[in-house]
Amino acid sequence: MVLKDKKIVLGVTGGIAAYKACELARMLKKEGAFVRCVMTDAARKFITPLSLETLSCNPVSYDLFPAAGGGGINHIDLAQSDLIVIAPATANIIGKLAGGIADDLLTTVVMASKAPVLLAPAMNEWMYENPAVAENIERLKKRGFRFVGPESGELACGREGTGRLAELEDIVEAMREALSKRDMAAEKVLVTAGATREALDPVRFLSNASSGRMGYSMARAARRRGAEVVLVSGHSVLPEPPGVSVVRVVSAEEMMEAAIRYFPQSTVVIMAAAVSDFRPVKAHAKKMKKAEAVLTAALERTPDILKEMGKKRKGQFLVGFALETEDLVKNASAKLKEKNLDMVVANSPAGFDSETNEVTIIDRGGKVDVLLPMGKGEIAERILDRVVSMKAR
Ligand code: CTP
Repeated sequence: MVLKDKKIVLGVTGGIAAYKACELARMLKKEGAFVRCVMTDAARKFITPLSLETLSCNPVSYDLFPAAGGGGINHIDLAQSDLIVIAPATANIIGKLAGGIADDLLTTVVMASKAPVLLAPAMNEWMYENPAVAENIERLKKRGFRFVGPESGELACGREGTGRLAELEDIVEAMREALSKRDMAAEKVLVTAGATREALDPVRFLSNASSGRMGYSMARAARRRGAEVVLVSGHSVLPEPPGVSVVRVVSAEEMMEAAIRYFPQSTVVIMAAAVSDFRPVKAHAKKMKKAEAVLTAALERTPDILKEMGKKRKGQFLVGFALETEDLVKNASAKLKEKNLDMVVANSPAGFDSETNEVTIIDRGGKVDVLLPMGKGEIAERILDRVVSMKAR
């Protein structure tokens, strides 16, 4: 988890979207971050410090000159954080920061800080379109300030337009990206994820219980670390990772076709998809009737996509997954050799459709690393750490 133990200042300014900052504070706490909220005077007209204090589990600051003995936190202390996120960021705070004004606690903290600053603007569409706001945003971008959103949709004023605060999950992801290593900026990563479906008839298919979570976490993590990422996805209901090109496929055959298309230009391939090994020889054009008491469907092998890539590889770094119910290391090592891989991530069916997993990473040199059970996002980071270090050798 990139945000774990990170010192975050959550700046809240005075717009109606301020109420969403409460949920953001809760999400950041859940990520394990140390969150301190700084509110402007206008923000305190929309929500109370008590809400943010309760959700962040830390005192909330809003006074540049706290009364003696008032326990306020010094602006220099707040400035020494790992990241400052301002959500919502009004036209006013954007203007002040662009103009180099430091006349309240939040602007002074930003002025005194060397930490990355992420702004999530939220305002009425006409305000957002105002040339002054557009110019201020451009100036701040040139100075290295980061932005997430705003989005289009229904605004608090009832109009449709651009000005809505970005989705909170997108803000959290932008924060992770701001704090992430950028050690994959030169890489073009191809990830496969999810379950393939092999049609029996127009409404039935053979598939498996894969959620796609491992592959989606890999794509997200590689993107954050600066890579250009293509995600070839079988069935999955997960939201598409931001900044990643997603290619949707259904069957193993379609996955093969898409993966082979992106293979030549890729530098790293991570084959996390749960590909069906068999498909019905014949898919019925019409829905099958249950007339027969026993139904036998002839099955044939699907292409082994990873094995094909192992044969065709020209400098690509190949990572496979191995799902094993017995002799984990032995069987996974055999797959690594048979498919000509650089690394194999072995796991058991317990990790299927789960938030966490327990995996063993085996590399082509025979090094075996057993990771403790952890979230799939964290596993993805560990796998990429190994990819980066092996590629650097
Ligand atoms: N794989 C693939 N194409 C297939 C089947 C699997 O590319 N038709 C990939 C998977 O995405 C995974 C690796 O091969 O990265 C190993 O998959 P796994 O299901 O563990 O093993 P299989 O090769 O299918 O062998 P077995 O079912 O005999 O264990």
